[in-house]
Formats: sequence, structure tokens, C-alpha cells
Amino acid sequence: MIELHGLTKRFGEKLAVDSLTFSVRPGMVTGFLGPNGAGKSTTMRLMLGLDRPTAGDVRIDGKHYQDLDEPLRYIGALLEAQARHPGRSAYNHLLCLAQSNRIPRARVAEVLDLVGLQAVAKKRTKGFSLGMGQRLGIAAALLGDPTILMFDEPVNGLDPEGIHWIRNLMKRLAAEGRTVFVSSHLMSEMALTADHLVVIGKGKLLADTTMAEFIRQNSRSFVRVRTPQPEQLRDALHGAGITAVTAADGSYEISGVTAARLGDLAAQHRIVLHELSPQQASLEEAFMQLTAETVEYHAHETPPPEPVAAEPVAEPAGAWGENWQQRGRGRSGEGG
Ligand SMILES: Nc1ncnc2c1ncn2[C@@H]1O[C@H](COP(=O)(O)OP(=O)(O)OP(=O)(O)O)[C@@H](O)[C@H]1O
Ligand SMILES: [Mg+2]
Repeated sequence: MIELHGLTKRFGEKLAVDSLTFSVRPGMVTGFLGPNGAGKSTTMRLMLGLDRPTAGDVRIDGKHYQDLDEPLRYIGALLEAQARHPGRSAYNHLLCLAQSNRIPRARVAEVLDLVGLQAVAKKRTKGFSLGMGQRLGIAAALLGDPTILMFDEPVNGLDPEGIHWIRNLMKRLAAEGRTVFVSSHLMSEMALTADHLVVIGKGKLLADTTMAEFIRQNSRSFVRVRTPQPEQLRDALHGAGITAVTAADGSYEISGVTAARLGDLAAQHRIVLHELSPQQASLEEAFMQLTAETVEYHAHETPPPEPVAAEPVAEPAGAWGENWQQRGRGRSGEGG
């Protein structure tokens, strides 16, 4: 269990983490979401005692990180930028960590096996691909067999196989009763992995809820109905006290009623339907709406080019997608 109470971190003028209070519970995967620069990595560094809070505090199983003896046995972490000696082999890298934390040597081979790096265990990490580096970072996090695991953007830059592997690993660790806390700015990925969500924007808490509740509250669901007899359908709906919204393409969007009920109603009135389909606005859209006002790093929008005869005209950059993915940052000050 990780508990935050009014956790605050200021870098000069910048309030990176703003009075965060929430708990990360065992036995589930908790997704930590927010736009770029929201304060996710800073919060994680504070949890690990790598930065000092300006105010408030974090407790790991009731203790401050500094007061844990053999912290790797409590909490293992994969942070954004992994530091390692490029000339050292994967095996030796983990062995050094194990020895400095009084972890038995046999555990090194175990975790290498767990992350699928046994074949390259004796190779220098200098030649490792991004995915191999992530796996090694995860092996290090698992070394002390900790009850709490924290991953900062673990799927960044990974191929689909790697993403799939990490997703299943996190679920398995949670199923073993561990506390799993994982950050991402990709809602779609989190939707597949997390049971619980903590969302922040500009350092502030925006949501702390179950994934199911988040989906229920933030994504609009409706049934799309298409008919060649729109008048009759409108009357039938009206008679049943159901309100329909007409979409741009002429179909009806109806909220708060099941597709089955609408199908029955149409049959009763002998109305032909060409479409009867339940719809759900994507979670990603919902998430972007929730965090819209807190996105700090906006993509530079260029006006669309003047149309040129016989040339396809490029679409202007989709504002949301671009904003969301842009990794704008400029760091200075403490910590380096
Ligand atoms: N050492 C530092 N010195 C000064 N400012 C910092 C430092 N570390 C972080 N910041 C600032 O604090 C804010 C939060 O940064 P942080 O890295 O925690 O965000 P994040 O949510 O992890 O973003 P991303 O999704 O891009 O990884 C940013 O504005 C960042 O520039
Ligand atoms: Mg980060």
C-alpha cells in the first residue's frame, strides 16, 4: 500500500505536484494517468524518496522510504530513464544490485528468466535494444521480490509483443496480491491493463476511481438507429417518452434505452430498421475531455497549406492527438 497525503513539489515557480492525496492498494493494477508534464514522474520520484516533497508526505506500508530497511524488498521501480553501466553485462548489472541489497545471487538468474533475457545475460547492455533495456529495468524492479511495483511509462517505445508481455506481467503481479502502480499517458493502453485509475493534470488530482466507474462516468453511450421510416419511428419514440437526437447522417442517437427495447418498440409499430447498434464514445476521448484544461504542452499548429492545383491538400494536424503525444519539456533546477 502506498499512501500520499497532501503531497506537493515545487521547482522554483513551477508547482509540479499539487497537494495530492490518494492511496494505491494491493491486489490490483492502478493506472496513473495525465498529460505530458502533469507530474507523474515527479510523484513517483517522491514516492521513492529520490526527491524531497515541498509539503505533505508519502508512506510505503506505513513508513517513509528512507526508513525502510532493504527497500528493494518492499518496492521495486522502473523509472523513465534507466541508468546503467553500458559496459556491464545484464547479469552483472543485476548482480551488483542484488549484492548491495543482500539479495541471494540465485535470484538474478530467476528474474532474467522471468523477463526472457537469459539468452543475452552475459552480453554487455550497451548493445541492448529499447525493449531489452525495458526488460532489464523490469528485472531489476523484480529483484527483491517486492510487494509493491512501480513502473513509469513501461511500454514506451515497445513493439506490440513487448506491450502485450508487460501488460500480462502487470496483471499477474497484481493477481499475486502485489501493489502495482503504472504511469502512462495512453488511455487506450491503460483501459486494457488497469483496474483502478488515478488521473492528474497540472499536478492536481482529477480522478481516483475504478476503471469501470471511470468508463461509466466519462464515456457517453447510446444506440444508433437507422430507418427508412424516420417519421414513424419519431412518433413511436415520442409515444414511449424516449428522446432521440438526429445525427448529421440522418440516423438517430438514443441514450438511456437498450437496443433490445428499441428493437421491440420498432417491431410493435412495424417499423423497418436498417441499423440498431449500441455505441460507446472511446475512453481516450473521455480522458482527453477530462484533462483538456490541464494540457500544458500544446503542439505548434501550422495553418493548412494553400491548396495547390492537382496536389492533395494536407489536413491540419489533429490538435488533440498532437497535443497529447508531444513530449515537450525543458528541465532545469534541482535533480538535474
Ligand atoms: N528536476 C526538475 N527541475 C525543474 N522542473 C522539473 C523537474 N522535474 C520535473 N519538472 C517539471 O515538473 C513538471 C512535471 O514533470 P513530470 O516529469 O513529473 O511530468 P510527467 O507527468 O511525468 O510527464 P511525461 O508524461 O511527459 O513523462 C513539468 O513541468 C516539468 O518540467
Ligand atoms: Mg514522466
